Amino acid sequence: MGAVTVRRPEDAQGPYRDMLVRLMTRQFYAETATAEVFGRSIGCAPSLREKFRAAEFAREEADHGERLCRLFHDLGIDPENVHRARPPAAQFWSLDLDNWVHIAVFNFTVDRAGSHQIMEYRDSSYLPWAEEMHAVLADEEGHYENGVENLREFARDKALFAEFQHAYAGMLPVTLKRAFGRPSGPDNDYCVAVGLKRHTAEQVVNRYLAEMLGYMRECGLKFPPLAAFAAAGAELLPSTRDIILSNQ
Ligand SMILES: [Fe+2]
Ligand SMILES: [Fe+2]
Repeated sequence: MGAVTVRRPEDAQGPYRDMLVRLMTRQFYAETATAEVFGRSIGCAPSLREKFRAAEFAREEADHGERLCRLFHDLGIDPENVHRARPPAAQFWSLDLDNWVHIAVFNFTVDRAGSHQIMEYRDSSYLPWAEEMHAVLADEEGHYENGVENLREFARDKALFAEFQHAYAGMLPVTLKRAFGRPSGPDNDYCVAVGLKRHTAEQVVNRYLAEMLGYMRECGLKFPPLAAFAAAGAELLPSTRDIILSNQ
């Protein structure tokens, strides 16, 4: 199967359909778990403004999940069954759901990693999915603006910023592993060959880190040491390692 355009669910067949369902499942896990993270964070958000925003983000993430439910239905798959196999959000991302610093780091780090995958899906060869992703990414721009705003606020307070840095060092390696998977290999090659993605995982990870790096330099946030990535089992290609080593 070479470069293709798949316009209808019934035209997604064989290994193409299998890979499509795997990628959609990964996104569905992320969207539904993120809805739970933001929903739960209403409780620990320090101000009313932030509580309202957390509620708004939870609603938007639920909408992203609902869009995937419709896509699963169209493929003849029951989304309840897919969802049942999802690990709990806190465990999935090594996150304390009742810790506002963790939520702020999550917003800057984990949520944005998902957006970079969704940028690929927006241009995917499976058009029913690609078409739904425009609205999702519009919401995600707002989430990231908030993530950056939070980072800047934390950077103004030395003690709080140290906590932010510590939580970030714990969460980023897990994010690379969970959100992007292995940076190369036959699955990656297949996704690009059939247009389910337009860039290699290596390119997507590097684009994510390079975007983040601009805000990190501005605020003095550092990447965790390479050993932290090894400990989390996050595999790094040399180009990715270079970005991480550029801001230690
Ligand atoms: Fe989302
Ligand atoms: Fe989000």
